[in-house]
Amino acid sequence: MKIAILPGDGIGPEIVAEAVRVIEALRTDGLKAELESAPIGGAGYDAAGDPLPDPTLKLAQAADAVVLGAVGGPKYDTLPRPQRPEQGLLRIRQALGLFTNLRPAIVYDELADASALKREVVAGLDLMILRELTGDIYFGQPRGQRRLDDGQREGFDTMKYSESEIRRIAHVGFAIARKRAKKLCSVDKANVLDTSILWREVVNEVAKEYPDVALSHMYVDNAAMQLVRAPKQFDVILTGNMFGDILSDEASMLTGSIGMLPSASLDAAGKGLYEPIHGSAPDIAGKGVANPLATILSIAMLLRHSGGDEESAARIEAAVKAVLKAGYRTGDIAQPGMRTVGTREMGDAVVAALARHR
Ligand code: IPM
Ligand code: MG
Repeated sequence: MKIAILPGDGIGPEIVAEAVRVIEALRTDGLKAELESAPIGGAGYDAAGDPLPDPTLKLAQAADAVVLGAVGGPKYDTLPRPQRPEQGLLRIRQALGLFTNLRPAIVYDELADASALKREVVAGLDLMILRELTGDIYFGQPRGQRRLDDGQREGFDTMKYSESEIRRIAHVGFAIARKRAKKLCSVDKANVLDTSILWREVVNEVAKEYPDVALSHMYVDNAAMQLVRAPKQFDVILTGNMFGDILSDEASMLTGSIGMLPSASLDAAGKGLYEPIHGSAPDIAGKGVANPLATILSIAMLLRHSGGDEESAARIEAAVKAVLKAGYRTGDIAQPGMRTVGTREMGDAVVAALARHR
């Protein structure tokens, strides 16, 4: 397997380094993987004046899978939009056709007390957020700023979804639900938005092909509330790009820390980009304290979805569980009586646990 490694900005390089060590550990056990790195985001801008330099995109296109750290930082906040780090991420998602975004939120029993919510509300949670990733208000045209007749400026964006875009992500949603608890909740804002009315109609049409999956619909404001009130009512949440962005950050807090959540962004053929859902955390960058587990768990998703290697995926997940059980905690999931460690030590602990989980 050829894997493109795009560390990006902020804590990206530190956490990706630990994920690479996990791949290397599996390589000594026989995993066939070739790694090659390239800059993206602010690092791409620094290297080539472009948040997605051409060679980086070419490397990603040629690879079987891509690992990404995070992009963005205060240093780049004043750049014009095309040069901003986030554009590198949005463009690579679009260029690779990664319309399926899987964001699982799993509460490890060891971390149930690290959640801001009561243990009984979150313990045992296993939720899959399926976010459409290449459409919606993120990419809709027209967008921009214009001058109104009265002289003031107006900003505008366009929310839109075509029938085919909704249909293909809905199929993914039903297929995933079928392999889980067979419950799919489609989240929209159909009481206000025309885009959402179509979304709901198309999801209902697709549902006819999956009579064994229980489909429900929920408005996004209610979904945001239900996620903190009773998150275990959900199995799979299917939603658009923007609602999924917001709800997946919210769901991460159920698990104890946003530093725990991996993600997979897949194209129609299962090629994927794997990244933690958290950002570049410039405030702690370079300090060696960031939690590498979301990125390490993203490697498990990579092996599962792009490598067809369920065994290695499960091995990584078992190693992460073992490390949590042994009491290792980075600052974001620190708990009294547990051992607070840095990024590197957490990586060491996972690599050591991998050796014990052959
Ligand atoms: C995410 C991030 C990105 C998004 C940003 C960095 C463009 O928040 O992956 O959730 O909004 O999709
Ligand atoms: Mg986000």
